[in-house]
Amino acid sequence: MPLAATATDLGARFAEVRAFTESLCDGLATEDFVVQSMEDVSPTKWHLAHTTWFWETFVLTPFADGYQLYDERYPFLFNSYYVQAGERHCRAQRGYLSRPTVEEVFAYRRHVDEAMAEFLDGFAEADRPEVADVIEVGLHHEQQHQELMLTDLKHVFAVNPLRPAFREPVDVPSVDPGPLGWRPFEAGLHEVGFESQDATTSRGRFHFDNERPRHRQFVEAFEIADRLVTCGEYLAFMADGGYDDTPLWLSLGWASRVENEWTEPFYWERDEASPTGYSVFTLSGMKPVDPNEPVSHLSCFEADAFARWAGARLPSEFEWEVAARTVWDGTGDAPGPFADAGRFHPTPAVPVGGDGTPAESPALRQMYGEVWQWTHSQYTPYPGYKPVEGALGEYNGKFMANQFVLRGGSVATSRSHIRPTYRNFFPPDATWQFTGLRLARS
Ligand code: AVJ
Ligand code: FE
Repeated sequence: MPLAATATDLGARFAEVRAFTESLCDGLATEDFVVQSMEDVSPTKWHLAHTTWFWETFVLTPFADGYQLYDERYPFLFNSYYVQAGERHCRAQRGYLSRPTVEEVFAYRRHVDEAMAEFLDGFAEADRPEVADVIEVGLHHEQQHQELMLTDLKHVFAVNPLRPAFREPVDVPSVDPGPLGWRPFEAGLHEVGFESQDATTSRGRFHFDNERPRHRQFVEAFEIADRLVTCGEYLAFMADGGYDDTPLWLSLGWASRVENEWTEPFYWERDEASPTGYSVFTLSGMKPVDPNEPVSHLSCFEADAFARWAGARLPSEFEWEVAARTVWDGTGDAPGPFADAGRFHPTPAVPVGGDGTPAESPALRQMYGEVWQWTHSQYTPYPGYKPVEGALGEYNGKFMANQFVLRGGSVATSRSHIRPTYRNFFPPDATWQFTGLRLARS
């Protein structure tokens, strides 16, 4: 860690999160930091600077007495989308920023790290809960960008014909997870959304505003699959002509499929040498598609078409939350492989009984980690939703149109970032995140 852990828990966690961001840059060459391979992708250097700008803008400038901006030109370059925080550089042109250099951006980080360490040294969380809550947002914000750094770098490396590997491949034995099982849930009224488990610390209090208010949802009886959909099952959909079977697709989904010429999941390529006929680009380079692994990098439209082909559907975000709470209630560590595992690629589900649970009442597998799970729920406000005051109110609320909710986290998410109530969101045609699916049916 770059800093000695300071006295407060927040100080230690700040140092830990900042250090993990920088650890993701281990092994990168200077040239890797600058490329923007498509509009949705931000250069690694921009992520490093934007997360640093966030601390300056929302913690140091308002709350640290006498703090001076490190460079008055940086807010324009590194404000992402906060209209209330001032003018900003065009998103699509982040790759034009050869300056400030990578070295200068690391110096910016060091400056802000030192100012934050000083601010957090002796910071009395209990006396300033509103400030602690903003710091918590900063920590979770930086974790979101850690995931984006990984998915963006994956894209940057994938478009390079040399196909560089970000990390050495880790061999994981491939086991057939066995046939998919269904887990029934009775109809009922459920409390969904976030409720503080431990309101005395900012960590116990923390949630994004889009997870509130906690409210009731009546959920009809449903069944949910006990594991994620595999590449093998997805190959069967492809072999059955799923990509050409118009009736399986939503109208907008079919339009996307035609426009983007989708014929297989993003990052898959035809490969005669692979037993499945396909190879896939990973953060450890190309490898044959493994039929036992969860399928990933699907758009919501592909996931939805697959589900229809399989005689099922995507779960709603509330069905997902009700089911996920039976596996983990949000206290202690989240189960599942996350970014801490360092592999950045999903793994096959352990066969039923293989983890010691009795075969007659199998636990839901792969509920957290692995790949984000598309739901059919539009990303909309919960009843009574109020974004926070000021520029931070732009964080989530203004994106509540034309996006779908994803749940559960992925191999690129930090373990300490996820909650049963966590709502990720992307447009239904997005494919560059680690996105897969779990089936549901009524
Ligand atoms: C929740 C992942 C859609 O990518 O813009 C980063 C995360 N919010 N900085 C995004 C986020 C502010 C957000 N997603
Ligand atoms: Fe951001």
